[in-house]
Amino acid sequence: MSVKIYIPGDSGALAVGGDRLAKRMADAIKARGLDAEIIRNGSRGLYWLEPMVEVETGAGRVAYGPVKPSDVDSLLEAGLLQGGDHPLSLGATEDIPFLKRQTRLTFARCGVTDPLSLDDYRNHGGLTGLTNAVAMAPEAIVAQVTDSGLRGRGGAGFPTGIKWKTVLEAQGPQKYIVCNADEGDSGTFADRMIMEGDPFVLIEGMAIAGVATGATKGYVYLRSEYPHAIRVMNRAVEIAREAGILGASVLGSAFAFDMEIRVGAGAYVCGEETALLESLEGRRGVVRAKPPLPAHKGFLGRPTVINNVISLASVPIIMDKGAAHYCDFGMGRSRGTIPIQIAGNVKHGGLFEAAFGMTLGELIDDIAGGTATGRPVKAVQVGGPLGAYFPRALFDTPFDYEAFAAKDGLIGHAGIVVFDDTADMLKQARFAFEFCAVESCGKCTPCRIGSTRGVEVADKIRDGIEPESQITLMTDLCNTMKFGSLCALGGFTPYPVMSALTHFPDDFRPAQISQAAE
Ligand SMILES: Cc1cc2nc3c(=O)[nH]c(=O)nc-3n(C[C@H](O)[C@H](O)[C@H](O)COP(=O)(O)O)c2cc1C
Ligand code: SF4
Repeated sequence: MSVKIYIPGDSGALAVGGDRLAKRMADAIKARGLDAEIIRNGSRGLYWLEPMVEVETGAGRVAYGPVKPSDVDSLLEAGLLQGGDHPLSLGATEDIPFLKRQTRLTFARCGVTDPLSLDDYRNHGGLTGLTNAVAMAPEAIVAQVTDSGLRGRGGAGFPTGIKWKTVLEAQGPQKYIVCNADEGDSGTFADRMIMEGDPFVLIEGMAIAGVATGATKGYVYLRSEYPHAIRVMNRAVEIAREAGILGASVLGSAFAFDMEIRVGAGAYVCGEETALLESLEGRRGVVRAKPPLPAHKGFLGRPTVINNVISLASVPIIMDKGAAHYCDFGMGRSRGTIPIQIAGNVKHGGLFEAAFGMTLGELIDDIAGGTATGRPVKAVQVGGPLGAYFPRALFDTPFDYEAFAAKDGLIGHAGIVVFDDTADMLKQARFAFEFCAVESCGKCTPCRIGSTRGVEVADKIRDGIEPESQITLMTDLCNTMKFGSLCALGGFTPYPVMSALTHFPDDFRPAQISQAAE
């Protein structure tokens, strides 16, 4: 039997030479007449080690990385096909601490299987959840998802089961499932990773959502900046259709469900669910006033479930292992696991799926290994560009929706971006206003005008023009935006600004500091 060599085809691995490496490996195997096949898997999410090559041995998979094309010959000479020792050896993949300390439920197959092999998917537990679902009444599926405690992973943390129940009970000649794959938050990549590394799990999750709510059509709204995910998802949908997972009779049942991939043109606000619907319907992405909720009047005015990729991709394991299994992980009202994306100035950046409850400090100091520059961590932004900056004093905050909210922060899509002590928090506050000004859909005044005024105020503080009254003005502006904006783009921009101001006041008084030093 030929030996399996895994070289990720994930965007993160491709960005650091994954394709060149795979070609070089294929040429070398051929030239040496070796009996081996190369599988382009997804990433395991240990991005500082990409391209990470794995070899299937009798004792399990063995990893090497980061591997360059020029390492191929020495790896083969060291006995790569037998898991031989080499300076790039990482040992047994599952024993690498960054992986070993994770609880992989949603990402269980990511980086393990061949993303487009349905056999591989089935052999690793795929389709069990959907098989169970089609044998159940829709109400029972919704109850199972509700009991699991799953909350939306797109940002707002709304209970998924309750959303599904609303759509199930809504009347309409046609209902829809819309998957939000816009993934616009800075430092996030979990949606992309799953779509590139385990696309069938998303398709399975969407099909379960369809069966549970009576929706027969689904769309994935996928950002244009993800060309590899678009390609993989399109092919996976074709394969699923050919295999009877999608279509008039889902897995031979009486339920019908089909889906397609739609590509967004790229605007942060198009990740907001109602702007997304506008875009999906072919118009400019402008936020709609609520009510009506999308669950009542969504895509084309019909009842629509809108869920994030990770919310939907977490459903198959719940329908496979049961609500109690999933609910057993986590803390408080944050149940199950969350794929945390560690990015920015860190030694070990990547995807870390864990039960809710780990502290920010454990994640940054321990798991991520501190900063890449070796300098002290100054601030951590959790939850994308609208998330608060936390100083080290808040590192004991557990990863839990309520615990973060209690400290004026948010988990959002669970992206963590780390900054060392060279970061200027006034600049970061200015950036938050600027980002909002650039991305604002323009529908409401506090966001459209407030964000631009915010940039001006930040510039005045920087230039030492009446800094104290400008700081008061900035605080006032943040209150207006927080309470007066129509959606969370304007409404949450105050979080990064006010957290920077509260936790790093010295950065907002540069002139005073330099005077005192003279
Ligand atoms: C400005 C803005 C951008 C957003 N971007 C995304 C996004 O990229 N992906 C996402 O899933 N949710 C995003 N959301 C949240 C969605 O509006 C919505 O809550 C989510 O898709 C619901 O799915 P969930 O319940 O599974 O989390 C965004 C919200 C706002 C206000
Ligand atoms: S807060 Fe900003 S993005 Fe949201 S509706 Fe108002 S103008 Fe549009």
